[in-house]
Amino acid sequence: MYLSKDEESILNGEKGEILKKLMNLVVSVGEVMGADRMIEITSVQVSGISYKNIGEPGLNFLKEIANTNVQAVVPTFINPAGCDLQNYNIQQISEEFFKKQLEVVHQFKRMDIIPTCSCTPYLIGLKPLFGDHISWAESSAVAFANSVIGARTNREGGPAALASALLGKTANYGLHLDENRKPTHLFVIDEKLKLQFDVDWSLLGYSIGREINEGVPYIIANKRPHMTNLKAISAGLAASGAIGLFHLDKITPEANVEKNYLSKLEKTTITKESIKQTQEILTFKRERMDFICIGCPHSSIDELYYVEKLTKSKKLIEGYRFWICTSRYTKTQADEGGITEKLNSRGILIVADTCPVVAPLSETSIKGMVTNSSKAAHYMPKTNNIPTNVKSIEDIVNEFFE
Ligand code: F3S
Repeated sequence: MYLSKDEESILNGEKGEILKKLMNLVVSVGEVMGADRMIEITSVQVSGISYKNIGEPGLNFLKEIANTNVQAVVPTFINPAGCDLQNYNIQQISEEFFKKQLEVVHQFKRMDIIPTCSCTPYLIGLKPLFGDHISWAESSAVAFANSVIGARTNREGGPAALASALLGKTANYGLHLDENRKPTHLFVIDEKLKLQFDVDWSLLGYSIGREINEGVPYIIANKRPHMTNLKAISAGLAASGAIGLFHLDKITPEANVEKNYLSKLEKTTITKESIKQTQEILTFKRERMDFICIGCPHSSIDELYYVEKLTKSKKLIEGYRFWICTSRYTKTQADEGGITEKLNSRGILIVADTCPVVAPLSETSIKGMVTNSSKAAHYMPKTNNIPTNVKSIEDIVNEFFE
């Protein structure tokens, strides 16, 4: 792998031991993956923020880096933390966990990294341009950035993304290269499958990810999506498969291959039945569901607005909890627009900076979760041992409100 003089000097330790270690990490990954050189990036999104996931070893690793005074050289955002950083009580999370989580976030701030704590950086100010090379870590954000925006990133691990933030570079391989961005499989959506709600797009993504596990799907849908639908399909695809890029016919910027090329790809039709089957896989029938959570990936302001309209003159039935997870930035918009207050009066809480999957919810009294996200339903039983049901927001409001 070719390295410039400057890159070599970092690798030789001339700019300190920490940068040497981090450069070594990025170069080693690049060499294993067949990269020819390093490339400059315009932004970074780092995952592995929750104290639940990284614990004391992760916190010490971050402290070790921050103590050397190295700082991010490109705009860098971070993924959701393990709790709401301003109101951890609403989650029934211990004060001890909260303090540890604040310490983790503080280390990032010391490195000049912006404590956004969100998996939707593209909704809150970190929006790359088409063709930009970036180094993002959260899988749904990666799929959205590659597919919807046309930026270029691999699914980075947390430490590799952090290294890229401090170096301003990543290795040139995988989805940074033209040849790896071409479609490998064709999916056609059957006429009878109505892609009406976010949950339908989420389950569609999950179904395709399950089907191929890896590759670049080219999808011909029968409906034009909203932005929130694209957010949902990105998360679904990335949860069930190792997929970082999809093309949606007539919608996404790189869905411009010739018909002849597409006709040579293996074709799968996604039907109403296949989506129903996926929904059943993610649904636990016996457990009592006492917790409703939407906002995986983090809700946009229009989703909050939509739920507010949908629940007008209604109230959550007693005995249930309902959270909408979002970024602090979006919650502030909702606070200022009066949406938070209205939702609160109906029993819905807006929880910022975190998400159900990375929060230590197994330590709470929650028994089962209903969500409109295939990704949350996929991970919740694994990370928190909490069973799930998948439903549309519309069905949730019909069932759990009076
Ligand atoms: Fe985001 Fe958590 Fe879902 S990080 S994509 S809300 S699992």
